[in-house]
Amino acid sequence: MRILLGVPGGIAAYKAVELARLAVKAGHSVRVIQTPASLRFVGRASFAAITGAPVLASEFEDDPANGSWPGEAPGAHTPISHLALIERADIYVVAPATANTLARLAAGSADDLVSTSALAATCPVVLAPAMNGLMWSNSATVENVLTLKSRGFHVLEPEEGQLASHGEAGKGRLVEPDAILHSVEMLSAQSRELDGVEVLVTAGGTREPIDGVRFIGNRSSGRMGFAVAEAAAQRGASVTLIAANSGLPCPLGVELVEVGTAAELSAATETAFETADVLVMAAAVADFRPVMPVGGKIDKSAGVPLLTLEPVDDILKGLASKRASGQTLIGFAAEHGPSTERARGKLESKNLDMVVYNDISDEAIGFDSPVNQVTLITPQGETQLPLASKRVIADGIIDAVLALRSLGS
Ligand code: CTP
Repeated sequence: MRILLGVPGGIAAYKAVELARLAVKAGHSVRVIQTPASLRFVGRASFAAITGAPVLASEFEDDPANGSWPGEAPGAHTPISHLALIERADIYVVAPATANTLARLAAGSADDLVSTSALAATCPVVLAPAMNGLMWSNSATVENVLTLKSRGFHVLEPEEGQLASHGEAGKGRLVEPDAILHSVEMLSAQSRELDGVEVLVTAGGTREPIDGVRFIGNRSSGRMGFAVAEAAAQRGASVTLIAANSGLPCPLGVELVEVGTAAELSAATETAFETADVLVMAAAVADFRPVMPVGGKIDKSAGVPLLTLEPVDDILKGLASKRASGQTLIGFAAEHGPSTERARGKLESKNLDMVVYNDISDEAIGFDSPVNQVTLITPQGETQLPLASKRVIADGIIDAVLALRSLGS
């Protein structure tokens, strides 16, 4: 596996040398990039000798290996982009991730090669923090770590114990290099779990026109579906995301189809479903729509209009009725109250493999919130996932999809 190792400037940088050594010994191809500050702690020569490849410490210097990895023939030309290494990395590890590095990554900075690579990474990114215990527990760092986790970065929590500075102890010690390598290898295997699997996700809330200006809509932000699409793509799936009125940025590696009404969502989903292996129906679809939307704008001086509504067909139920064997269908149920009974009813009545239930009576979760708490309901039982960012919940949903598919195979 191609491991790109980013080394920021902290005392624990010397442990990154050991990490590089272990990774090379395990047969991985390793390239190292350093921040200018890290050069004060460890010189390039150590990493270059261990990895057998030049080390870069600035986005402005040419790569003597022309973007190639150990074991490959050197490229014939200097790559145009300073992103050549991250573009082909299977995994990016930043160790030791200092408090300053975490802050810069959380802010989306791109002011050196290490931060720029994190911003441009499409592969999994592992952060192994190391710092003074007070800096680790400072609320600024705590919030930065939460932000990074919510964006899909994998953070290996530092350990409690003796710190590098003389006489200091606390939580902030870099995870041992062999444990970092183990996590990296596990994660890499995970990032291929959905290789060759087509995942179709719907997200957002449909809008049903009343006239050319007004509509009947709902409060769904689309965040949960977007998070599921991102999590699936990061596990190697080929992902199509059909989004209704969300306006959120498209996750990396995901094909986005934008729709407005339930009818448009239905048509797009129906087409993509033909080749999909997994459908995750997170969109909040209107249950009723105006029978005859008026062109232009209804004039309020004409009095209170009478809206006649008609039911919208249940898209998920329709697709489930013609599912092919091997297709996995996941629905969502936003219910008012803690009982999972109605949600379980949907599992059966819509013929689904899993329903993701959340309680919308709890104002702190759901809809426009970045966090959520859900219960996964399958024919085998119910699992409550702890309150977490929607991105973390999305990983839990994908884990459950994988478990369901392995049961079915
Ligand atoms: N759904 C759908 N088409 C619809 C309505 C809902 O595909 N017209 C899907 C949603 O995307 C979701 C699941 O069905 O995955 C459950 O949605 P929900 O609105 O809770 O289901 P309903 O059967 O409409 O439940 P309720 O009785 O609460 O309205």
